[in-house]
Amino acid sequence: MNEIEQLRQEFNEKISSCQSLSELNDLRVSYLGKKGPVQGLMKLMKDLPKEEKPVFGQKVNCLKSELSDLIDAKKVELEEKEMLSKIESEKIDITLPGRKPNIGTIHPLNLMWEELEDLFIGLGYQVIEGNDIVDDLYCFERANIPKDHPARDMQDSLYIDENNLLRTHTTAIQMVVLEQSAPNPVKVICPGKVYRRDDDDATHSHQFMQMEGLVVGENISLSDLKGTLLFMARKIFGQDKQIRFRPSYFPFTEPSVEVDVSCHVCGGKGCPTCKGTGWIEILGAGEVNPNVLKMAGYDPEKVSGFAFGVGIERMAMLKYGIDDIRHFYTNDKRFADEFKRFE
Ligand code: DAH
Repeated sequence: MNEIEQLRQEFNEKISSCQSLSELNDLRVSYLGKKGPVQGLMKLMKDLPKEEKPVFGQKVNCLKSELSDLIDAKKVELEEKEMLSKIESEKIDITLPGRKPNIGTIHPLNLMWEELEDLFIGLGYQVIEGNDIVDDLYCFERANIPKDHPARDMQDSLYIDENNLLRTHTTAIQMVVLEQSAPNPVKVICPGKVYRRDDDDATHSHQFMQMEGLVVGENISLSDLKGTLLFMARKIFGQDKQIRFRPSYFPFTEPSVEVDVSCHVCGGKGCPTCKGTGWIEILGAGEVNPNVLKMAGYDPEKVSGFAFGVGIERMAMLKYGIDDIRHFYTNDKRFADEFKRFE
């Protein structure tokens, strides 16, 4: 009986200092397990006189259920304690300021591309994008570019093999569209990347973007071209702008012109941006050369057309005042952030 009492006291002390569920489990196993002291007391029964056995057995059973009740109660207490400390350690402070999401911006070249595209879609143009790799036939031959033209030199173009190259201008798309459309009228813009074997500097890049415009049909004249380009220049640079045509030469147009817009920085008075002239060159254009029409399958006696090719980087540089073409491709986030306001 003394031993029972001793065991009870010893257990009470141990359970009251128990701090965790795993400690409690160890305690349960050590006292109530098969090799534990309670089971040990049971084994003493066989040596007791017969009349004492029932009383002793009852006492040991009482102790056993008492200990397991204490363990259950302690378990509830410890579970609650562990839950509270978990809640405490994972507490979220809802008064802390949130982290600002780092939202990207639309790249200025995409802004420019979309602005140009939207403007021409509004005028009823269809958008056609061709392949970056083109046959020499469409890049040069059909564009009336003679065999000895410098663009055909391996030094200026990026050839894949004898006949195929990375297109040097979107005029290559124009030639494919003409062949596929003849003898029907055409009204398309063809935006896309172009490639040249150039050394990169502030105004040159081995890869940049152009947008070709092409209209073919009956009585399409140079004044249609002028009206179209004036509309474009005013949409992009402001309604007060003027344009002027300067005679030029491109093999695929006749007559050919270079188109200037009145300077949007000084308003035409003369400044560093327009090199003091009041005018800024924006693109090349002209009436589609009758030879080009004929090679594509049109009858130049019946139809005529105009074409223009505009540099998307060049337009973006002028519009947004960017002084180095390399900014577009070097992924400087500070540069990109400048364009949030134009979206
Ligand atoms: N293909 C010319 C270039 O890359 C640009 C160009 C000029 C396109 C006149 C045209 C055009 O369609 O009529 O420099």
